[in-house]
Amino acid sequence: MKFTTPATTNPIDQLKVIGRATDRIDGPFKTTGTAPYAYEHQPERVAYGYVVGAGIAKGRVTSLDVADAQRAPGVLAVITADNAGKLSKGNFNTAKLLGGPEIQHYHQAIALVVAETFEQARAAAQLLHAQYSKQAGAYDLAKVKDKAKEPGDKDAKDHKLGDFNGAFNAAPVKLDAAYSTPDQSHAMMEPHASIANWQGDKLTLWTSNQMIAWGRGDLAKTLGIPKENVRLVSPYIGGGFGGKLFLRAESVLAALGAKAVGRPVKVALQRPLMINNTTHRPATMQRIRIGATREGKISAIGHESWSGDLPDGKPETAVQQTQLLYAGPNRMTKLRLAVLDLPEGNAMRAPGEAPGLMALEIAIDEMAEKLKMDPITFRIINDTTVDPAKRERKFSTRRFVDCLRTGAQRFGWDKRNPQPGKTRDGRWLIGIGVASAFRNNLVQKSGARVRLNAQGIVTVETDMTDIGTGSYTIIAQTAAEMMGVPLKQVVVKLGDSDFPVSAGSGGQWGGNSSTAGVYAACVKLRELAAQKLGLDPAKAEFVAGAVRADGRSLPLTHAAEQGELVCEDTMEYGDLDKKFQQSTFGAHFVEVGVDAYTGETRVRRMLAVCAAGRILNPKAARSQVIGAMTMGVGAALMEDLVVDQRLGYFVNHDLASYEVPVHADIPHQEVIFLDETDPVSSPMKAKGVGELGICGVGAAVANAIYNATGVRVRDYPITLDKLLAKMPEV
Ligand code: MOS
Repeated sequence: MKFTTPATTNPIDQLKVIGRATDRIDGPFKTTGTAPYAYEHQPERVAYGYVVGAGIAKGRVTSLDVADAQRAPGVLAVITADNAGKLSKGNFNTAKLLGGPEIQHYHQAIALVVAETFEQARAAAQLLHAQYSKQAGAYDLAKVKDKAKEPGDKDAKDHKLGDFNGAFNAAPVKLDAAYSTPDQSHAMMEPHASIANWQGDKLTLWTSNQMIAWGRGDLAKTLGIPKENVRLVSPYIGGGFGGKLFLRAESVLAALGAKAVGRPVKVALQRPLMINNTTHRPATMQRIRIGATREGKISAIGHESWSGDLPDGKPETAVQQTQLLYAGPNRMTKLRLAVLDLPEGNAMRAPGEAPGLMALEIAIDEMAEKLKMDPITFRIINDTTVDPAKRERKFSTRRFVDCLRTGAQRFGWDKRNPQPGKTRDGRWLIGIGVASAFRNNLVQKSGARVRLNAQGIVTVETDMTDIGTGSYTIIAQTAAEMMGVPLKQVVVKLGDSDFPVSAGSGGQWGGNSSTAGVYAACVKLRELAAQKLGLDPAKAEFVAGAVRADGRSLPLTHAAEQGELVCEDTMEYGDLDKKFQQSTFGAHFVEVGVDAYTGETRVRRMLAVCAAGRILNPKAARSQVIGAMTMGVGAALMEDLVVDQRLGYFVNHDLASYEVPVHADIPHQEVIFLDETDPVSSPMKAKGVGELGICGVGAAVANAIYNATGVRVRDYPITLDKLLAKMPEV
């Protein structure tokens, strides 16, 4: 099915199952420990792999002596670049998932030790003797910033509109400020894990991966075998956040190890290896310039961001939202990319907008203060209903101002003292902050297969993944709504490359796009079922287990009496995303207390108001936003991959030293979804929320800290050392 014109009324609009707060159907499996995660499969004769990471950040392995390791008890094989055979580059840089002799980053895999037990593999790994010749590398973004270049890819090019410099210089009120965000880690609970099992030349990989079709294609390319010979299975994923979008080292190494020993091999990346072996969100340095009239109209807005990556890497696109969030006739955004020899920088929850808004939304708060204007009023004055650069291009929906107003009312914004440092509660300085949330809504083609049997069970099969987001449940809700059956009659099977290719989980497109694919397949199944029942498919309604048309009503089960009905389709998209700008909006409100003596910040309460199209499952969506808000607090106050500038690696490479919020850090959170349907996004009229929820949170915390203390910190995370020296007298 091709979606080319805005959706009209369709069966989803019945809202009998869709749009209702629904418990996760995978919940009981997870809470009882019966949902099998990748590492938990236990094929017969399975052997264990242990990954060895490089001990240098840049240079060459000059010798790698494996003899002692190979003689160690239980060892079956040691895989290195010397015996692995040629690895080819996939769509991502998969050939480098096994390094050597060249080393591109610290903890790049240089070997996999395979043994009868995990403990034997781990013990033998200590007996590898690697010698290196080191090269000097670049590890400090600030030092290489001036060598940064305009990136090659077309969506990272400079944007210019009007005369930014002229308008900025002429503006009566202006801000020119620098901000920085650190390297951050996905720090998901489940490590990257894979079990490879060869049967002849066919490979099955149980793994933990957000994008099954990408992973399948890349694994086949890397190993130089046909895609048809590779099956990926990833039904449950213990968090991804972008860190599992692509094939990682453990999957390629498991495949190589299993081939070498002729047995299944399981490999989980050891936690201390994960952070430097895999990807992270790159640090940014940002400069924002805003000029406005005395009445608060933005006349010039400029946002530049510098980030680094390995050679051939990509920039952190932190200026994206600044192209679309506020009005203003003179505009400029620039991305600059420097070469750094740190581990690979890549997507992490809301890549671009998350760190971009951490800077932009402090800048907006600073501008409002310069204008002596309420920061919500300043945002509302500069709202736009069109893409500011392509004025004929409207937003499909944009309830940004409603988010700000609703949030202000529900959070008690009128009680905020605009004078910083003036509100006390015992030893605590109290502050309230706000920030805008913005994240683009992408649509991706997505396929599904649906089956109906004579018992009335509807089974959905798609390679869509559930990374903890609730995909199982919204897909079941979609099929139940479309086929007019109760939720408990729907079986959902996900995460298997034997199933139709879906959108996968990424870029907050999974919810809307994958359910739209299920919708397309169900449209076909409805037609087929109506035909089987001798009813007019154009008139048939599917309600309460029956199919009705022309005054007749027949049980749905009768349609499958002669045998199971099976239909498959893929939802594809025309150019609606070119005609309309599709984005999601929100506003974050945060109250903090900052200890007047120690500078310790405690978040007291948070509210997110989101306008993100139809909310398919308010319960799961709320969980997504609450999780994202929590992650936003981490970004504001804690998260920071600390670079060892001599050795070129992230020092705090485990969950003990990479700090993220825990329950005690997050006392009270509320989420409000504004009532909205977006007929341009898909027949589901839904959009993404999983990334919107983190966008802006960091700045809302920073602005609340400023309101509490009068200390403006522009370098994240806002740790107490950055506050202490400037705290008000007590
Ligand atoms: Mo997302 S960072 O595209 O998983």
